[in-house]
Amino acid sequence: MPPCADKLGRPIHDLRISVTDRCNFRCPYCMPAELYGEDYEFLPKADLLSFEEIERLARLFVDLGVEKLRITGGEPLLRHGLPRLIERLAAIPGQRDIALTTNGYLLESQAAALREAGLERVTVSLDSFDEAVFERMSGRSFGPQRVIAGIDAAKRAGIGPIKINCVVQRGVNDHTLVDLARAYRGTGHIVRFIEYMDVGTLNGWDLSQVVTAAEIVERIGAEFPIEPVDRNYRGEVANRYRYRDGSGEIGIIASVSEPFCGECTRARLTIEGKLVTCLFAADGVDLRAPMRAGASDDELRKLIEDVWTRRTDRYSEERAELTARGDSSTRKAKIEMYQIGG
Ligand code: GTP
Ligand code: 5AD
Ligand code: SF4
Ligand code: SF4
Repeated sequence: MPPCADKLGRPIHDLRISVTDRCNFRCPYCMPAELYGEDYEFLPKADLLSFEEIERLARLFVDLGVEKLRITGGEPLLRHGLPRLIERLAAIPGQRDIALTTNGYLLESQAAALREAGLERVTVSLDSFDEAVFERMSGRSFGPQRVIAGIDAAKRAGIGPIKINCVVQRGVNDHTLVDLARAYRGTGHIVRFIEYMDVGTLNGWDLSQVVTAAEIVERIGAEFPIEPVDRNYRGEVANRYRYRDGSGEIGIIASVSEPFCGECTRARLTIEGKLVTCLFAADGVDLRAPMRAGASDDELRKLIEDVWTRRTDRYSEERAELTARGDSSTRKAKIEMYQIGG
């Protein structure tokens, strides 16, 4: 079957699958501790897609052209038995790439089992090496040591390339970017600096907190000379740069200053089985209800295809157009980051 394309000609290529809405961190930009206390009620188990259901839907997405599967959360390593899901996904004919985005806290103990199950790549979120900055950005009272140990364990397990995601927030961690770059130069790991985005409704985003890609390039480049490199593939979100001395590469995700909606080939599946066609969408289309009511593979595939072929999303471009006109407002109703996994 040829890949299905949306109204703007963008084929469906990646599926990001959220496997839990829970998280063991409380990053203020995603799941602020004052709103998500210890007794906060996350979704009950019956509402979550089972591994069987996730695999079935993933197969249908692959039929429609998806080649990349990325597991997200909340924090995906909190989902009990995750390696069993990876094993099922790895066996789907037609998928070419399985990756996981995690905060790394539980990675040290799970890396070997994940690799054995077929996980090829991992991306670990790590906003700073600085103890106090890490505590502030993770909303927890510990430093980055366990996350760093998780990254090391993933390397030992043979998972790679390993990417390290750093959300850059002005006045919070921007003074520690060079340290992070320095720590991973020469290791083969790729640090990616991400412009702070207005995802969800809880993070009080405004433009003044964004450090633009141009500024990040300037700051890193002043310490370690870098030069741009071509993208690996159409639709890659990060702009790539390599250190001129050959000690590796970094990435910069410029979704605010240089939106990449024109190349956006990503679908998202929430843990409740909703198909979401944009990170900034207000809602998604329910696949779980028809699936649980007995819909056939053909019917579900047709539903997914209908949603994708009607898709017109280009939120980041629209927001940038507004910003250029001096209007910095953002959409009011949006799915929260921890429900959609980025
Ligand atoms: P690779 O396959 O390794 O290139 O992964 P990735 O960069 O697509 O995934 P990752 O989970 O590491 O996401 C990196 C950052 O890019 C996160 O902050 C995501 O929220 C953001 N991101 C990913 N896809 C999109 C997108 O379609 N739109 C926007 N605006 N941001 C995105
Ligand atoms: N802006 C940019 N990136 C974010 N992430 C979470 N919230 C934001 C935000 N507001 C990152 C996480 C993770 C990835 C999936 O998205 O740190 O690395
Ligand atoms: Fe958890 Fe990731 Fe959200 Fe932080 S950004 S609270 S690690 S889901
Ligand atoms: Fe895709 Fe929406 Fe992100 Fe644009 S804002 S790149 S359409 S997910």
